Amino acid sequence: MQFFIDTADIDAIRELYATGLADGVTTNPSLIKKSGRDFTEVVTEICSIVSGPVSAEVIATDVKGMLSEGRKLASIAGNVVVKLPLTIDGLKACKTFSDEGIKTNVTLCFSANQALLAAKVGATYISPFIGRLDDIHIDGLDLIREIRVIYDNYGFETGILGASIRNPLHVKECALAGADVMTAPPAVIKALANHPLTDKGLAAFLSDAKAAGISV
Ligand code: E4P
Repeated sequence: MQFFIDTADIDAIRELYATGLADGVTTNPSLIKKSGRDFTEVVTEICSIVSGPVSAEVIATDVKGMLSEGRKLASIAGNVVVKLPLTIDGLKACKTFSDEGIKTNVTLCFSANQALLAAKVGATYISPFIGRLDDIHIDGLDLIREIRVIYDNYGFETGILGASIRNPLHVKECALAGADVMTAPPAVIKALANHPLTDKGLAAFLSDAKAAGISV
């Protein structure tokens, strides 16, 4: 499963990308706002650090506007993935970009039928929002499972990109459900390495090594 970092924070991207654990980055307008930086400038900088896919989202809501913005974003760097909302206009724009070979990430997916539509227009990625479904007491992970079955039934090549991931359990469940990618905030990705028994065991080994005068 590929890991994308869900942030527009350059320092956090640099730090996590250097671990070799991250394959790409996703942003959205809220994350860009949080960065306090100019949109094009920040996407350009992310693409100079990360060689994998970097999702940048259009703001327009009509096809013409989405196509114009999407082409601008795609011209920033070869690894930009144009993020489009799951609306009829977004799907139309996705179809055009698919035909032109521009990579797309169809976002704000909350149902299996929406994911089916994104696959039919050749989206590179579909982003089901797990956490936001959990927020309204709907099991977001069921959505990933349903999409996996539907895509496998028909051999759709659209990648399932688990998004709106809030905790390590979401990551594990995405992996079990066969998501192709998951995108999570840096803190969640780092937390995957944590286990109290690892800390306890390491402390005991270090203490015994010291007591035995072991040196390597
Ligand atoms: C990523 O592509 C999404 O925009 C992001 O994961 C949304 O996460 P949130 O629901 O925690 O804002």
